[in-house]
Amino acid sequence: MLQNKIIVSPSILSADFANLERDIKRAEAAGADWLHIDVMDGHFVPNITIGVPVTASIKKVAQVPLDVHLMIENPEKYVEPFANAGADILTFHYEAVEGKNILPLIEKIKSFDMKAGMSIKPKTAPDVTYPYLESLDMLLIMTVEPGFGGQKFMPDCAEKVKSIREKSEDIIIQVDGGINAETGNICKNYGANSLVAGNYVYKSENINEAIKSLKF
Ligand code: DX5
Ligand code: ZN
Repeated sequence: MLQNKIIVSPSILSADFANLERDIKRAEAAGADWLHIDVMDGHFVPNITIGVPVTASIKKVAQVPLDVHLMIENPEKYVEPFANAGADILTFHYEAVEGKNILPLIEKIKSFDMKAGMSIKPKTAPDVTYPYLESLDMLLIMTVEPGFGGQKFMPDCAEKVKSIREKSEDIIIQVDGGINAETGNICKNYGANSLVAGNYVYKSENINEAIKSLKF
Protein backbone atom coordinates (compact mmCIF):
# COMPACT_ATOMS: atom_id res chain seq x y z
CA MET A 1 0.00 0.00 0.00
CA LEU A 2 1.21 3.45 -0.90
CA GLN A 3 2.05 5.41 2.22
CA ASN A 4 -0.01 8.55 2.53
CA LYS A 5 2.54 10.12 4.76
CA ILE A 6 5.06 12.32 3.00
CA ILE A 7 8.61 11.88 4.25
CA VAL A 8 10.34 15.26 4.24
CA SER A 9 14.12 15.07 4.17
CA PRO A 10 15.82 18.49 4.36
CA SER A 11 19.19 18.55 2.62
CA ILE A 12 21.85 19.83 4.99
CA LEU A 13 23.92 20.86 1.96
CA SER A 14 22.09 24.19 2.25
CA ALA A 15 22.65 24.46 6.01
CA ASP A 16 25.39 26.53 7.63
CA PHE A 17 28.26 24.03 7.99
CA ALA A 18 29.77 26.10 10.78
CA ASN A 19 26.52 25.68 12.70
CA LEU A 20 25.46 22.24 11.61
CA GLU A 21 24.13 21.03 14.96
CA ARG A 22 21.99 24.16 15.30
CA ASP A 23 20.63 23.76 11.77
CA ILE A 24 19.91 20.06 12.25
CA LYS A 25 17.97 20.78 15.42
CA ARG A 26 16.05 23.55 13.67
CA ALA A 27 14.95 21.18 10.93
CA GLU A 28 13.99 18.50 13.44
CA ALA A 29 11.98 20.94 15.54
CA ALA A 30 10.20 22.03 12.37
CA GLY A 31 9.08 18.47 11.62
CA ALA A 32 11.80 16.99 9.41
CA ASP A 33 11.27 13.22 9.11
CA TRP A 34 14.78 12.42 7.91
CA LEU A 35 18.00 14.37 7.28
CA HIS A 36 19.37 14.19 3.75
CA ILE A 37 23.16 14.06 3.57
CA ASP A 38 24.70 14.67 0.14
CA VAL A 39 28.01 12.88 -0.28
CA MET A 40 29.97 14.00 -3.37
CA ASP A 41 33.42 12.81 -4.43
CA GLY A 42 34.56 15.23 -7.16
CA HIS A 43 34.50 12.34 -9.69
CA PHE A 44 30.92 11.14 -10.11
CA VAL A 45 29.90 14.78 -9.76
CA PRO A 46 32.17 17.84 -10.02
CA ASN A 47 31.61 18.96 -6.44
CA ILE A 48 33.13 17.67 -3.17
CA THR A 49 31.01 17.84 -0.04
CA ILE A 50 31.01 15.72 3.07
CA GLY A 51 31.91 12.13 3.86
CA VAL A 52 32.11 9.49 6.55
CA PRO A 53 33.52 11.45 9.55
CA VAL A 54 31.02 14.29 9.26
CA THR A 55 28.18 11.77 8.90
CA ALA A 56 29.35 10.04 12.09
CA SER A 57 29.40 13.38 13.92
CA ILE A 58 25.91 14.23 12.68
CA LYS A 59 24.70 10.86 14.01
CA LYS A 60 25.69 11.94 17.51
CA VAL A 61 23.35 14.91 17.50
CA ALA A 62 20.53 13.89 15.14
CA GLN A 63 17.28 12.36 16.38
CA VAL A 64 15.79 11.43 13.00
CA PRO A 65 17.08 8.82 10.51
CA LEU A 66 20.03 9.78 8.31
CA ASP A 67 19.19 9.59 4.60
CA VAL A 68 22.58 9.39 2.89
CA HIS A 69 22.72 10.15 -0.84
CA LEU A 70 25.97 8.86 -2.33
CA MET A 71 27.01 10.75 -5.45
CA ILE A 72 30.27 8.84 -5.68
CA GLU A 73 32.06 6.29 -7.82
CA ASN A 74 32.50 2.76 -6.45
CA PRO A 75 29.63 3.04 -3.95
CA GLU A 76 30.11 -0.63 -2.96
CA LYS A 77 33.39 0.31 -1.25
CA TYR A 78 31.64 2.69 1.13
CA VAL A 79 28.67 0.66 2.34
CA GLU A 80 30.34 -0.54 5.51
CA PRO A 81 31.94 2.82 6.42
CA PHE A 82 28.60 4.60 6.08
CA ALA A 83 26.81 1.86 8.01
CA ASN A 84 29.33 2.33 10.81
CA ALA A 85 28.86 6.09 10.63
CA GLY A 86 25.15 5.61 11.34
CA ALA A 87 23.41 5.89 7.96
CA ASP A 88 19.84 4.58 8.10
CA ILE A 89 19.01 4.85 4.41
CA LEU A 90 21.86 4.46 1.91
CA THR A 91 21.21 5.53 -1.68
CA PHE A 92 23.68 4.89 -4.52
CA HIS A 93 23.50 6.00 -8.15
CA TYR A 94 22.57 3.45 -10.81
CA GLU A 95 25.06 5.13 -13.15
CA ALA A 96 27.93 4.66 -10.70
CA VAL A 97 27.73 0.87 -10.43
CA GLU A 98 30.44 -0.87 -12.46
CA GLY A 99 29.26 -3.90 -14.42
CA LYS A 100 25.74 -3.17 -13.19
CA ASN A 101 26.19 -5.53 -10.23
CA ILE A 102 23.22 -3.89 -8.60
CA LEU A 103 21.47 -6.71 -6.79
CA PRO A 104 24.56 -7.68 -4.74
CA LEU A 105 24.98 -4.02 -3.78
CA ILE A 106 21.36 -3.78 -2.62
CA GLU A 107 21.80 -6.98 -0.60
CA LYS A 108 25.00 -5.65 0.94
CA ILE A 109 23.29 -2.45 2.08
CA LYS A 110 20.42 -4.41 3.60
CA SER A 111 22.81 -6.80 5.34
CA PHE A 112 23.96 -3.83 7.43
CA ASP A 113 20.35 -3.14 8.47
CA MET A 114 20.05 -0.03 6.33
CA LYS A 115 17.27 0.73 3.88
CA ALA A 116 18.55 0.46 0.30
CA GLY A 117 17.95 3.29 -2.16
CA MET A 118 18.94 3.71 -5.80
CA SER A 119 18.99 7.01 -7.66
CA ILE A 120 18.81 7.91 -11.34
CA LYS A 121 20.14 11.07 -12.99
CA PRO A 122 17.98 13.22 -15.30
CA LYS A 123 19.13 11.53 -18.52
CA THR A 124 18.58 7.97 -17.23
CA ALA A 125 15.32 6.32 -18.32
CA PRO A 126 13.03 4.97 -15.59
CA ASP A 127 12.87 1.53 -17.27
CA VAL A 128 16.37 0.61 -16.10
CA THR A 129 15.10 0.57 -12.51
CA TYR A 130 12.24 -1.89 -13.05
CA PRO A 131 14.22 -5.09 -12.41
CA TYR A 132 15.27 -3.75 -8.99
CA LEU A 133 12.06 -2.22 -7.63
CA GLU A 134 11.12 -5.37 -5.71
CA SER A 135 14.46 -5.42 -3.90
CA LEU A 136 14.82 -1.70 -3.22
CA ASP A 137 13.27 0.21 -0.31
CA MET A 138 13.52 3.53 -2.11
CA LEU A 139 14.02 4.98 -5.58
CA LEU A 140 15.38 8.52 -5.79
CA ILE A 141 14.55 10.45 -8.94
CA MET A 142 16.89 13.39 -9.45
CA THR A 143 14.98 16.45 -10.62
CA VAL A 144 18.24 18.38 -11.28
CA GLU A 145 21.70 17.25 -12.43
CA PRO A 146 23.34 16.05 -9.23
CA GLY A 147 26.20 18.14 -7.91
CA PHE A 148 24.86 21.37 -6.47
CA GLY A 149 22.01 22.73 -4.40
CA GLY A 150 19.84 25.61 -5.57
CA GLN A 151 19.23 24.49 -9.18
CA LYS A 152 16.02 24.73 -11.18
CA PHE A 153 13.53 21.84 -11.04
CA MET A 154 13.25 19.78 -14.26
CA PRO A 155 9.57 18.89 -14.83
CA ASP A 156 10.37 16.11 -17.35
CA CYS A 157 12.26 14.23 -14.66
CA ALA A 158 9.32 14.41 -12.28
CA GLU A 159 7.17 12.61 -14.85
CA LYS A 160 9.34 9.53 -14.34
CA VAL A 161 7.75 9.20 -10.89
CA LYS A 162 4.49 8.27 -12.58
CA SER A 163 5.90 5.32 -14.49
CA ILE A 164 7.67 3.98 -11.44
CA ARG A 165 4.61 4.35 -9.23
CA GLU A 166 2.63 2.34 -11.81
CA LYS A 167 5.12 -0.51 -11.33
CA SER A 168 5.27 -0.43 -7.53
CA GLU A 169 2.79 0.68 -4.91
CA ASP A 170 5.08 0.03 -2.00
CA ILE A 171 8.42 1.55 -2.85
CA ILE A 172 9.32 4.93 -1.40
CA ILE A 173 9.76 7.33 -4.32
CA GLN A 174 11.92 10.29 -3.38
CA VAL A 175 12.56 13.38 -5.49
CA ASP A 176 15.56 15.65 -5.09
CA GLY A 177 16.47 18.98 -6.71
CA GLY A 178 14.63 22.28 -6.93
CA ILE A 179 11.82 21.09 -4.66
CA ASN A 180 9.51 23.68 -3.08
CA ALA A 181 5.80 23.66 -2.21
CA GLU A 182 4.78 23.99 -5.86
CA THR A 183 7.21 21.54 -7.49
CA GLY A 184 6.77 19.21 -4.53
CA ASN A 185 3.05 19.09 -5.25
CA ILE A 186 3.68 18.15 -8.86
CA CYS A 187 5.82 15.23 -7.68
CA LYS A 188 3.33 14.15 -5.01
CA ASN A 189 0.57 14.09 -7.61
CA TYR A 190 2.69 11.73 -9.70
CA GLY A 191 3.09 9.46 -6.68
CA ALA A 192 6.24 10.61 -4.90
CA ASN A 193 6.14 10.16 -1.12
CA SER A 194 9.48 11.57 -0.06
CA LEU A 195 10.68 15.08 -0.79
CA VAL A 196 14.23 16.35 -0.38
CA ALA A 197 14.63 20.10 -0.13
CA GLY A 198 17.75 22.12 0.54
CA ASN A 199 17.42 25.75 -0.38
CA TYR A 200 13.67 25.87 0.07
CA VAL A 201 14.00 24.75 3.70
CA TYR A 202 17.22 26.40 4.78
CA LYS A 203 16.95 29.70 2.92
CA SER A 204 13.32 30.27 3.87
CA GLU A 205 12.27 32.91 6.39
CA ASN A 206 10.15 30.39 8.25
CA ILE A 207 11.49 26.85 8.36
CA ASN A 208 8.34 25.52 10.09
CA GLU A 209 6.11 26.79 7.31
CA ALA A 210 8.48 25.53 4.64
CA ILE A 211 8.52 21.98 5.98
CA LYS A 212 4.78 22.01 6.63
CA SER A 213 4.10 23.13 3.06
CA LEU A 214 5.97 20.09 1.74
CA LYS A 215 4.04 17.67 3.91
CA PHE A 216 0.48 18.72 3.19
C1 DX5 B 1 21.96 17.88 -5.53
C2 DX5 B 1 21.66 17.25 -4.20
C3 DX5 B 1 20.47 17.79 -3.53
C4 DX5 B 1 20.52 19.25 -3.16
C5 DX5 B 1 19.12 19.76 -3.24
O1 DX5 B 1 22.95 17.17 -6.16
O2 DX5 B 1 21.47 15.86 -4.35
O3 DX5 B 1 20.10 17.01 -2.39
O4 DX5 B 1 21.03 19.51 -1.89
O5 DX5 B 1 19.15 21.14 -3.07
P1 DX5 B 1 17.93 22.07 -3.54
O6 DX5 B 1 16.70 21.60 -2.83
O7 DX5 B 1 18.37 23.42 -3.12
O8 DX5 B 1 17.80 21.91 -5.04
ZN1 ZN C 1 20.62 14.71 -2.62
